[in-house]
Order: sequence, then structure tokens, then C-alpha cells
Amino acid sequence: MSRRIISTLSIVLVLGASLALVACGGGKSNKLEIFSWWTVGGEGEGLKALFDIYHKQYPNVQIINAAVAGGAGTNAKALLATRLTGGKPPDAFQLHAGLEVEKYDPEKYILPLDDFYKSEGLDKVLPQDLLSLLQYKGHYWGVPVDIHRANILWYNKKVFADAKLQPPTTWDEYFKVVKALKARKIIPLAFGSKDGYEAGHTFETVLISVLGPDAYKGLWTGATKWTDPKVADALNTLKKLLADVNSDHSALTWDGALGQYFITNKAGMMIMGDWVNGWFISQNFTDYGWECVPGPKVFDGLSDSFALPKGAPDNTNAMNWLKVCASQAGQGAFNPLKGSIPARTDVDPSLFNPYSQSAMKDWTSEPIVPSVVHGAAATEKWATVYKDILATFATSGDVAAAQKALDQTATDNLAK
Ligand code: GAL
Repeated sequence: MSRRIISTLSIVLVLGASLALVACGGGKSNKLEIFSWWTVGGEGEGLKALFDIYHKQYPNVQIINAAVAGGAGTNAKALLATRLTGGKPPDAFQLHAGLEVEKYDPEKYILPLDDFYKSEGLDKVLPQDLLSLLQYKGHYWGVPVDIHRANILWYNKKVFADAKLQPPTTWDEYFKVVKALKARKIIPLAFGSKDGYEAGHTFETVLISVLGPDAYKGLWTGATKWTDPKVADALNTLKKLLADVNSDHSALTWDGALGQYFITNKAGMMIMGDWVNGWFISQNFTDYGWECVPGPKVFDGLSDSFALPKGAPDNTNAMNWLKVCASQAGQGAFNPLKGSIPARTDVDPSLFNPYSQSAMKDWTSEPIVPSVVHGAAATEKWATVYKDILATFATSGDVAAAQKALDQTATDNLAK
């Protein structure tokens, strides 16, 4: 074959391949890499439901699930930052609504999505509280797929019925329940602290309970001092609470502790976000009840969104991914499996189980405060130091030292 024929042939082949890609609507590439930390029960199923919808609409795009295990993004966030700064971004990545975005230097590394919000009419279908949380430096950086609640006390119905107990709504009631469960050789509170954020998670729910919603919010703006005696009260309550958890907690993740102790009726309660609801669904476990963590009824909220890095290889495919995440159908498929409620206000509530239906009502009727451990209330720098202080406190129990350290990091971070 002459050289000319070979090169004409290759041009025809390349053209043909590109036309085929354009025809299948997949943009210039046929890949879509989605980066998240959703790997366990409920999380995996929810993500797959979104992939399935995407796949139906863009059958020729190959989805690469780049999920990195570790609750609350413990391992994923650091890896993501390295990929962004190293010029190897995924096509879309999980990002909490709120100040977490500051970690990734958005003006340098993330595409603002204001035009997308306009074209998809998102300002009309997302609640105002969430829209405000999603803005940073005057732009939208992520498209929310859910709303989660962090401050839930889950209880095992069989364990409670056997011991003739009611779910506690005050700390006094809580510690009475603890006593009654211990008398029956039941672990009062199932706990997993393997990923290092869990003591901080539990503590934010106790802080909200002891300080109330406004004073809790003030901790992150400087309006409430960390030297407040109520912060010490909250640390003392946390210390008391952690005295009655399973002794192997540092070897278990939140789902590990549920599997080991909660669904086996060896523990009575767990304090964790409502991804637990998704996990129960994935295990076909239904014998659970829930209450707000003792204290005033407050919604400790957070939201998972997806953001698009600048310079990602498959931008058209990623834009289409955002459309699926933002859509009524996407959110109606994802959230009933994930345990969360939809970010959109127009998704049919009858798709959801009783827990999620109650969370939908609470979201509209209770005061909402931002979660710190899940990216909403403070920058990642501050939230990381906060988590480390609480992880140390979980073993040391030194109230004065923890309060001093919390106050110091607040001073450092508020000064910036
Ligand atoms: C949160 C996230 C949830 C859930 C949880 C446990 O940070 O918002 O979607 O995945 O971590 O990993």
C-alpha cells in the first residue's frame, strides 16, 4: 500500500471515530471519571442509581468510579487536592456545600457554575438556605444532589422494647437509658472512630444541644467564645457519653460499628448522620427508630454536591453528569437509597421511607445549623484541627486542654 493510501485511510478512520463519538452525545471523549468517597452500603447504591440514569442517556460514555474509601472524605479530600494541584483532575468530584470549597482554591482550580444554575433554573428549585450555603466568593462551585442531617440518635427498637425503654430526648433521660442498658449487658452506644472524624462529629451534635442553635453558629463566626463554660459542659457530656461505647471503636468505621453491634442487637444506640438510614436500607434492616440528639430540635445540616475542576479531560460529559445530579429524576433515584433528602424541593416524598419523610418535614420546620465536620461551617483547615483535637480528647478526656486548644484554633482561624 502506498503511503498516500495509508494516510488517507487513517484520516477516514479518525474522522469516523470522532463522528461516532459526537453522534452518541459523549463530547470529545468517551470517559467520565467521578471522584467521591461513597463506597459503603447506601452510598454505593445511591451512586450507582445516578450512574444508571447517566448510562441510559449517554450509553457510549464509560463511567470510571474513582471513589476513595474513608467516611466523611477522610482519605479522599487529601488525594483530590493533590490531583487538582498536580494537574490530574477527575472530571467531577464530591464537594460539601459551604466553606469546604476554600481548601481547593476554587478561583484557580474549579469552574464556577453560575451559568449552569441559570440554565437549569436551580435558583427556583433549591431552598434558599441551601443556595446561600452553596455560594462562596459570590459564585456557585458545586451542584447539590442531597441534604443530610448529622445529629440523629438512632436506636434499636428490639433492644429498647425488650428493656421497656423510650428514646431519650434530654441528657438526663439519655444517661438513664445508658444505665438500664448496661444493667442488661447491652452496649449503650455503638461507636466507630477509625477514620478520625467521628469524635468531632459526635461533639458538634452535643455542642448544638448544649449551646442551642444560635450560640453554636456563633462559635464559627466569633460571636460565641470557645471559652464559654457551656463548651466545657459539652466536653464533659461527650466524655460521659464516650465512657459507654464498645471498647474496639478505634478499629471500626461507622458502618463497621453498626454491623458489629447495632443490627446484631448488641448495642442500643448510635449517634451519626442519616447516611445510616441509607446503610440500614442497603442491609434490609428495619428495626430502628430515631430521635434528634437530646436537646432542642435543631437540624444539623450538610449537603453533598459535585464540582467540576478546570482542565478536566471530559468537560462535556461532566456537564451532562451535573445535569443528571441536578435533575428531579436523578435526585428521586439517588436519595431514597442514600438515606438523605433531595436538595430539590419538587421531588415526590412518597418515594422515601418514613425516616426521610420525617427529615423532610424537620428541614422546613426546625432551625438549621451548618455541620462543621461535613464541610459547611468552617474552612477545612479549621475543621481538621477541630477534628484532631476531639480525636485526642476521646482518649485523653482532658476537658481543660481540649477547650484551650479549641479556643486557640478559633482565634487562629478567625484572625485570617
Ligand atoms: C459525609 C457525606 C455523606 C456520607 C458520610 C459518610 O461527609 O456528606 O454523604 O458519605 O460522609 O461517609
